[in-house]
Amino acid sequence: MSTAIEKAAILVEALPYIKKFYGKTVVIKYGGHAMINNELKEAVLTDVVLMKYVGIQPVIVHGGGPEITGMLKRVGKESRFVDGLRVTDEETMEIVEMVLAGKINKDIVAQINRIGGRAVGLSGKDANLFQAVKKLHKIRTPEGREEMADIGFVGDISRVNPEIVATAIAEGYIPVVAPVAVGAAGESYNVNADYAAGRLAVALNADKLIILTDVEGIMADRSDPHSLISVLRVDEVPNLIKQGKIDGGMIPKVECCLDALAGGVKSTHILDGRVQHSILLEVFTDKGIGTMVEN
Ligand code: ARG
Repeated sequence: MSTAIEKAAILVEALPYIKKFYGKTVVIKYGGHAMINNELKEAVLTDVVLMKYVGIQPVIVHGGGPEITGMLKRVGKESRFVDGLRVTDEETMEIVEMVLAGKINKDIVAQINRIGGRAVGLSGKDANLFQAVKKLHKIRTPEGREEMADIGFVGDISRVNPEIVATAIAEGYIPVVAPVAVGAAGESYNVNADYAAGRLAVALNADKLIILTDVEGIMADRSDPHSLISVLRVDEVPNLIKQGKIDGGMIPKVECCLDALAGGVKSTHILDGRVQHSILLEVFTDKGIGTMVEN
């Protein structure tokens, strides 16, 4: 048990960070385990509301994942994946959009409101927030040739118009954004939520980008659970990729961080969404809990 003075010390530790980030925008990519486990969900959204009430401006960009797969199954549609990308025909996109911008988005909004924040749900299609073009995806055939694969309505964000998010922030709301984008002819695209969060952070001149994942962070030695890299400089990243310490699904996440930093975001954080209150622990303590990637 911590004594009263220890508890007070922990609260006081937060003061410099409350000062530093007061009025600043923090974009949080919310996904993975923290979205499907109720206790974790409550903890994440409580952290977000707390941030808001100490004067920080959190913005959530959420993923979809298992709920989309579940709904597609219920209606008898199974997805094919190419390199981890869901092949999205028109009917699939309709369901993806309904689940992402409808169900998932509004559930998060309602839960924040219940905790005591004021959230508003937005789709990337609202006020042209995320504009996209069809993703051109190259695959390698078994014979080793490069070929274009048609993966349907999967988009690359071509433009971000953050005005509606900025307006919501200025009015005191916590914006909750679904990673759906609009094409030139008004069609919908499914876009990667990490990437959407990174692009939105740049467009909003955010100070921080926080990506919740299902790993502790970046490890110097994967067989050693105590080897978490707490602070990583951008110029150290290429070597870690070469050494295979950053690989697989972590590479695009780190690339999002690098893009955000190149676009002016001051710090990016890869956090373990499986740990309760990882956001508070990262933002309001000196040591943090995950990997902070900085210039
Ligand atoms: N709380 C500070 C911040 O959010 C420091 C975080 C340090 N984090 C880390 N993983 N070393 O900027």
